[in-house]
Amino acid sequence: MSLTTTPAGPKLADEALWESEMPHDTPAPFFEDTAHGIRLYRGDALELLKRAKAEHFDLIFADPPYFLSNDGITCHAGRMVSVNKGVWDRAETFEAVHEFNKEWLKECRRLLKPNGSIWVTGTAHNIYSVGFAMQTLGFKILNDIAWYKVNPPPNLSCRYFTHATETILWARRDAKGRHTFHYAEMKRENRDRQMQSLWQIKPPGAREKRYGKHPTQKPEALLDRILRASSDPHSLVLDPFCGSGTTGVACAHTGRRFVGFELDEKFLEVAAKRIGDEITFTERQTSLAFNTDINVEGGGSYRWLTSPSTNLTTRLFRPMLLSRSLSARFKTISTLITTLIGIRFLRGSKITARSYTC
Ligand SMILES: C[S@@+](CC[C@H](N)C(=O)[O-])C[C@H]1O[C@@H](n2cnc3c(N)ncnc32)[C@H](O)[C@@H]1O
Repeated sequence: MSLTTTPAGPKLADEALWESEMPHDTPAPFFEDTAHGIRLYRGDALELLKRAKAEHFDLIFADPPYFLSNDGITCHAGRMVSVNKGVWDRAETFEAVHEFNKEWLKECRRLLKPNGSIWVTGTAHNIYSVGFAMQTLGFKILNDIAWYKVNPPPNLSCRYFTHATETILWARRDAKGRHTFHYAEMKRENRDRQMQSLWQIKPPGAREKRYGKHPTQKPEALLDRILRASSDPHSLVLDPFCGSGTTGVACAHTGRRFVGFELDEKFLEVAAKRIGDEITFTERQTSLAFNTDINVEGGGSYRWLTSPSTNLTTRLFRPMLLSRSLSARFKTISTLITTLIGIRFLRGSKITARSYTC
């Protein structure tokens, strides 16, 4: 269990992101919350990256196109569906994919502060190109995280193993440097044992997709861990392919500042709504008497908040929530015990609760 406070970032209004200081020559944000330092821009990441100021960001998370849209099939919710994600996920040749990866990674390296680090997700389709490009450009690879997706779709062809993991490369800008790593927090989260590079985290559930589906959306719990492991509150984080805004949501949740780029307006609309909700929720949370994140084994956390009054629905929901999160650790018998404890000790105060990830 970890107690988390989520302070709002300092005001960003006067912080210039672009090389050009002239207002008529700088991109206009699609969404902006200056009080929390969060901005989204619509456009081609390659162009926007080139226009941003050097050594500006503490951390970059990039979930680039994997280029796996090859007209194949996969299984989704028990149905056979096309693997195609959109035109942005198509490439003619491996050489073209590698050129693209080299180009955006080179710009990301230019934008990182000297001790900054970058996380990049991928599968076999692109991750070897990403890793090779990183090493060629001078990044120092720190970890290759295997994100285990717990319940992956079956392999319809029955000619391969089921694809159950994605790789996330974590690299520092330079061979020498002092990157941020909150070792103790990660260890505490892992029941006081060193956290390993195998992360079991479920794909995003319905709540995270309430404003619309993104074909390659990442879970909030994954980004939450990445941000808490490798950045500090108020750090400035960039996601050049931000899609439905998961990195921005996690930044709002953990008190980091955020800049996101995305080509597609419909994904930006989803991102803006999700980030707006998270900002509102986090602000309400800090005005309540008590807030706790209960980390659940296997990734994610439940957050619950209390205030002095009570109502029936939250009374009923509260012990169930407590029970479910703690029982991930102590399994069967503790379910009953923690439910009883929940009923006994938390009666008489109001909890507004929601599941952050499960
Ligand atoms: C793998 S998805 C990212 C999903 C995101 N992590 C999320 O959780 O929603 C990649 C995104 O990059 C966008 N994209 C592709 N090429 C781009 C480019 N050149 N510039 C900006 N965005 C691009 C796509 O529209 C897509 O939304």
